[in-house]
Amino acid sequence: MKIAVVKEQAAGEKRVAATPETVKKFIGLGAEVAVEAGAGLTASIADGDYAAAGATVADRAATLAGADIVLGVQGPAPESLAGVKPGAWIVAGLNPFGERARVDAYAAAGYEALAMEFMPRITRAQSMDILSSQSNLSGYKAVLDAAAEYGKAFPMMMTAAGTVSAAKAFIMGVGVAGLQAIATARRLGAQVSATDVRAATKEQIESLGAKAIFVEKVAGIEGEGTGGYATEMSEEYKAAQAELVSAHIAKQDIVITTALIPGRPAPRLISDAQIATMKPGSVIVDLAVEQGGNVEGAVAGEVVERHGVKIVGHRNVPSRLAADASALFSRNLFNFLSAFWDKEKGAPVLDEEIGNAIRLTQGGKVVNERLLG
Ligand code: NAI
Repeated sequence: MKIAVVKEQAAGEKRVAATPETVKKFIGLGAEVAVEAGAGLTASIADGDYAAAGATVADRAATLAGADIVLGVQGPAPESLAGVKPGAWIVAGLNPFGERARVDAYAAAGYEALAMEFMPRITRAQSMDILSSQSNLSGYKAVLDAAAEYGKAFPMMMTAAGTVSAAKAFIMGVGVAGLQAIATARRLGAQVSATDVRAATKEQIESLGAKAIFVEKVAGIEGEGTGGYATEMSEEYKAAQAELVSAHIAKQDIVITTALIPGRPAPRLISDAQIATMKPGSVIVDLAVEQGGNVEGAVAGEVVERHGVKIVGHRNVPSRLAADASALFSRNLFNFLSAFWDKEKGAPVLDEEIGNAIRLTQGGKVVNERLLG
């Protein structure tokens, strides 16, 4: 069983899909691990560290030659995988909706593509969930990015020269990223409020010491919804939410938006007219910018200014914390493959629940029902 770890090819991607720690663990399972030279450099991992952990470090062709499993952070280009075994597994964040043509190409090449972001949200798969591990870091980094752009301090400070007032931060969308954003903004000393469409988040917001701002007139999503995810809201709800946000946002210094709906464009939460009511110097960070954006005027990969308000739209925020993001991502991959490791076969064998959820292609065809539906 040969596991190949490739160097990421996507522009700006600094993460890597294995660390010396996970290499050692894979070898402990009986696998052979090859790492493409330079794969870890942008995540502060030297080739020598992989070699010391027992991996072979080689060029791409030698890394892929005869591989049974290819690990990536993002999906490797299908044409860059020459030499892997027929039917090899491609295990990565494959962005199945956004990169449909690539999924089709994996099928055509006979690979079995496993999309880690389709991992079901069940208790036993929590340690394999790349969306959670990466969103957690994004939520933290979003607050730091906001603080870096903000021309004032976050905490209240009483100094001999007078008092600096605390920043008011509003977090929209309280999933994994939003919860971490609340906690981080609180640690920095901001006065924090937050909102979500899922009623269950109200208690979570309050337990972190933030104020919950919720639409009262129209019912949101009760319970955990489908796997804890939100769905598109009714027009009535959207109107009530816009009214609530309009009243609240004008008083905020920092707004962090994280709202996503799986398989659909991100919901629009802040309009240009609402931005115009904010104080000059305020900062908005749109973590959903690559999925269409929660904020009107946000541009992926840029910090733009509208009405004196900075709108931060960094791409691939987890990659901005490449070392930690890689460590957690790599453990997610190891936890996944090791949970299904069949000792006799010396290879992972998936069960139906998780296999069917994450398998995109098999036997030359696209097989995932979310892509066929
Ligand atoms: P996500 O990244 O899909 O969405 C972020 C947040 O935006 C969600 O809380 C969602 O309700 C909210 N949102 C969507 N539309 C909105 C709108 N119009 N206005 C305001 N907010 C909106 O969600 P994420 O962070 O991946 O997870 C959501 C929940 O899933 C978690 O809080 C947790 O309860 C559950 N979960 C369960 C796991 C497990 O059991 N293995 C693992 C991870 C999460």
